[in-house]
Amino acid sequence: MTLTIPAQLEILKQKCLSCQKCGLCKTRHNIVFSGGVPNSKLMLIGEAPGYYEDMQGEPFVGKAGQLLDKIFASVGLSRQKDVYICNTLKCRPPDNRDPLPEEKAACKEYLDAQIEILKPRIILLCGRVAVASLMDTTLGITKLRGKWFEGPYFSKMMPIFHPSYLLRNDSREKGSPKWLMWQDIQEIKRVYDQMD
Ligand code: URA
Repeated sequence: MTLTIPAQLEILKQKCLSCQKCGLCKTRHNIVFSGGVPNSKLMLIGEAPGYYEDMQGEPFVGKAGQLLDKIFASVGLSRQKDVYICNTLKCRPPDNRDPLPEEKAACKEYLDAQIEILKPRIILLCGRVAVASLMDTTLGITKLRGKWFEGPYFSKMMPIFHPSYLLRNDSREKGSPKWLMWQDIQEIKRVYDQMD
């Protein structure tokens, strides 16, 4: 008997909840497994939970998350009905430091399993840590963003700026990070609408 996608994800989540594969299990308040809906059309992968995410057990609920919701809303998408959201790390690195190589390695099996279960058609790699988790490249996010790459399970994969970066760059002028994100989200929506 094949389990449904939500059932498979639930089993994986239970595995994460008891995970002690790296030191972050000692400092976490909550595992942040996923948010949004298990929609196989669109998956967004972020970096790691921050303070608010760790407290609430939900990804992207702080300021960056609010901006992310606005970016999706600008093209009529929402986390309540269109997007599955997860992170490369399921536990918060203390003081929001960069994830350590051993933490990324320990957590990779969970991200890979989320992708394998959902087989999303479109994967958005939000920021450089997410890019490094699925792409073998030395190019920075500025060079990669807005371009489509071949992702796992025949998905289309696009690196995009992390909303925290956009929060630090206020300009909306042509060529600015916010302006570029606006181009990217429109391209993402165009391809999203073509997918069945
Ligand atoms: N930044 C991320 O990359 N992920 C979150 O869940 C929150 C902030």
